[in-house]
Amino acid sequence: MIDGKKILFSGMQSTGNLTIGNYLGALKNWLTLSDEYECFYSVVDMHSITIRQDPSELRKRARNLLTLYIAAGLDPKKNCIYYQSHVSGHAELAWILNCFTYIGELNRMTQFKDKATKHADNINAGLYTYPVLMAADILLYQSDVVPVGKDQLQHLEITRDIAQRFNAIYGDIFTIPEPYMGKAGANIRSLQNPEKKMSKSDENANASIYLMDDPDTIIRKFKRAVTDSEASVRYRDEQPGIKNLIEIYCACTGKTPEETEKEFDGKGYSEFKPAVGEAVVSVLKPVQDRFYELSKDKAYIDGIIKENAEKANYYATKTLRKVQKKIGFPERIR
Ligand code: TYM
Repeated sequence: MIDGKKILFSGMQSTGNLTIGNYLGALKNWLTLSDEYECFYSVVDMHSITIRQDPSELRKRARNLLTLYIAAGLDPKKNCIYYQSHVSGHAELAWILNCFTYIGELNRMTQFKDKATKHADNINAGLYTYPVLMAADILLYQSDVVPVGKDQLQHLEITRDIAQRFNAIYGDIFTIPEPYMGKAGANIRSLQNPEKKMSKSDENANASIYLMDDPDTIIRKFKRAVTDSEASVRYRDEQPGIKNLIEIYCACTGKTPEETEKEFDGKGYSEFKPAVGEAVVSVLKPVQDRFYELSKDKAYIDGIIKENAEKANYYATKTLRKVQKKIGFPERIR
């Protein structure tokens, strides 16, 4: 608890261009939860280097992502928006937690298996222990809740397991976090292959809607989305392409799948697909406009980076010192 409020932590990698999967699965829920919780929203740049990055590109993307958090509507005075690499406690706690995580647990992580297949020439130790750094992110702030998309649930589970293991030995040190997923949008699929999740790193640009895509591109991509020959807008597993479009439509409009089925009853995909595109444009356009506006104000963004790093460091250090003491590291002499 901070000032009587429960604590929320979440983060995104500053790798590639964000997609509406990131927006609808995570960022959108961050906005609705931000009043109720004391929130920490990190640009997790340390996670990004598990895959080889171009340094200047990584720096640029990290700043754009931080700006985007604010452009999406998170108030940086109320929410702690910061770079993970500015708070050394993440790495320090991750080391400690590494010593409380079993290789067998890490071997089960599906994201590691996927990424190791994709980057077979660079299966580094960081990629393998990635979930431990993620556990450190969350536990460092004594987080109660972690809003994420479905693909991160396994990482939340291992975080809980590590925390419980640690607590069983040393007493109630860590809050055990709960994942949070929104009603719609937790599992947005590729527009070209609904068997796959929509991902920043998809080689086919038509498979993903990027947050910065212009309205024409968005509409065009939806028109080209892979569907089926049923010609009926129904929310069911047998029509995965259409199910995904309904999911996106609902996440953007707040409507339910039943309401959407009714709205498009008797109408073809040529009417439904552009309507989904329009719904997405109306959500993204204001965020894009605000992003371009904010990007011009260097001093404002710099101020936020500095202030929020100090705030995050303060809370991170509190937990870290407690943990270091418990495991027997020598006390600091002041
Ligand atoms: P990342 O950067 O891949 O994604 C950021 C958030 O977007 C969600 N997401 C999706 N949701 C629905 N449909 C999709 N197609 C989709 N694609 C991505 C993700 O679930 C995530 O919530 N390991 C994390 C970042 C991280 C983190 C953390 C998250 C590091 N430490 C601590 C929460 C708490 C990641 O790579 O997310």
